[in-house]
Amino acid sequence: MCGIIGYTGSSQALPVLIQGIRLLSYRGYDSAGVSVWREGALHVRKDPGRIEDLAPSWDPDGLAGTTGIGHTRWATHGVPNRANAHPQQAGETTEDGGLVSLVHNGIVENDLALRETLEAEGVAFRSDTDTEILAHLFARAFQGDPVAAARVLLDRCRGQFAVAIQHRDLPDTLIAVRRGSPLLVGLGVRENLLASDLRPLVGRADRVMELGESEIVIVTPDAVHLFDASGAAIERETRAIDHTERDTGKDGYPHFMLKEMHEQPERLYELVAGRIDPEGRVLRMDDLGLTDEQWRSFERVDLVAAGTAFNACAYGAYLLESMARIPARALMAHEYESRDPVLDERVLVIAVSQSGETMDTKIALQVALDAGAATLAVLNVRESVIGRMAGGVLDMHAGPEIGVASTKAYTGMLCSLLLLALKASRARCIADAPIAEIAQALWALPDAVRTALERFDEAAAAAQDVRRADHMLYLGRGPDAATASEGALKMKEISYIHAEGHPAGEMKHGPIALVSREMPTVAIATAGPWRERMLGNVREVRAREGEIILVATDGDPDAAKLADFVLSVPATHPLVAPIVNAIPLQILAYETARRRGCDIDQPRNLAKTVTVQ
Ligand code: G6P
Repeated sequence: MCGIIGYTGSSQALPVLIQGIRLLSYRGYDSAGVSVWREGALHVRKDPGRIEDLAPSWDPDGLAGTTGIGHTRWATHGVPNRANAHPQQAGETTEDGGLVSLVHNGIVENDLALRETLEAEGVAFRSDTDTEILAHLFARAFQGDPVAAARVLLDRCRGQFAVAIQHRDLPDTLIAVRRGSPLLVGLGVRENLLASDLRPLVGRADRVMELGESEIVIVTPDAVHLFDASGAAIERETRAIDHTERDTGKDGYPHFMLKEMHEQPERLYELVAGRIDPEGRVLRMDDLGLTDEQWRSFERVDLVAAGTAFNACAYGAYLLESMARIPARALMAHEYESRDPVLDERVLVIAVSQSGETMDTKIALQVALDAGAATLAVLNVRESVIGRMAGGVLDMHAGPEIGVASTKAYTGMLCSLLLLALKASRARCIADAPIAEIAQALWALPDAVRTALERFDEAAAAAQDVRRADHMLYLGRGPDAATASEGALKMKEISYIHAEGHPAGEMKHGPIALVSREMPTVAIATAGPWRERMLGNVREVRAREGEIILVATDGDPDAAKLADFVLSVPATHPLVAPIVNAIPLQILAYETARRRGCDIDQPRNLAKTVTVQ
């Protein structure tokens, strides 16, 4: 995931672009760059590294100008280096002589075919990026009409992308086009901006407008002209920017938790698209520091973590064992040291942590390092204590998570661990691992999560009922045993309802004693090998007059008959389902807490990052 900023107005563009890149760095920060129009040319500076280190070397005189674009990158196509950093240029060969500068957030899915076609037409590529294709396509299509040239991008490119473009012959003009990835237009006084999120616009623009699906916008200091994919001019309402929004960063949502839940489709898309192709042929995992030979040599994997991350580990261990055929177990990080685990280089220890700072997880990782085990960390903050310690880092790229109750980091962890299990299966030559089927389901995952989020009202109706409960039970089987634990954790963290999550098979060995009319049971029974037995558990609860909230796949013939409330989710692969099934349980917890008047983003007694033992 990358960040886009654009400025055209009466001030110098460079400081606005640098500040924008800084504020968008949570979206990726392995390289950054800017392009500014000055004296009839587009001047580009770009390099790998952090904006703090790069910006001082960008000379304000060489980049003096009032129109420019900027970018902060998270590499998907090509390593972080100068050639692959954005802006990408097209039209000429020298850095300060391009006809077109272009920055991009997203993925062009048919990049290989387009690259071949352009090469056959004589285009010499200077980078490994899919972005450069967009720049060449635009430059070659431009005959004086930027809207017509932008339409060519929509016509010829598949995938999800937002791009901002400058053309040398259009001095005070920014061109932008969007499909899938977000892009906002900020409107100010004699200046207008483009940005991937609201942060860079607050304090600068007065009003904001979201660029719609497959729309094109032409921005000059005094005007914003919007067009649909056919090139017809359209109108769009703008809304005033509340200047406290940057401080809170809630982008108009009442709570961080709600905002972060809605960020999940985009975050998951970027994670998936950066690591695997839709057929599951290519798995980009070379940066983890683990060779295929190592994967084959591991005799055990220990996954260590706390809280929500521990629930993700339970799912990860299930996948590594059942699919990649490595004995794997999830262990609470704070219990790891005391059991004096048997460790050597044949064991891989994976620390999972949103923050990368959790003391318990750090200590468990240190135990592994001291014993000479191989180590890996699945993190949301690469530059963290755990990130610096671990042998390799798999970055879940969920973006900053502020709400104490983890949502997008949880689904980011699940998705990262699933990708890791696919990699392990491939490296260990597990012939029957369903890599292609899962790859396909992963590419459909963002839409499935988006659809689950659109069913907000179903979970809200159930919340209206459970808000009066004092106790709740969550049940799931197979990989959804982790979903049950996480659903219960979400509920107790923010609504203070006592909630227990159990593998459903355990129910008749104890928890069934709790079932009564006053205790709602949430059962996860989506399509897959565990559904039938889950429905058996549901009947057992109903036989004891317990209320049922059922997470079920669309079209389930029994759901409505068995449940008081159905939380429906789109169909997906059973091993991908836990990522989708987490969504209605997040909504249920959120809506219950809201109805109970709880402090959703900062629940009592909890902290986002626990840096003490
Ligand atoms: C705290 C938070 C939890 C979180 C856990 C692990 O307990 O309240 O929400 O899951 O720490 O945090 P980590 O940053 O390591 O994922």
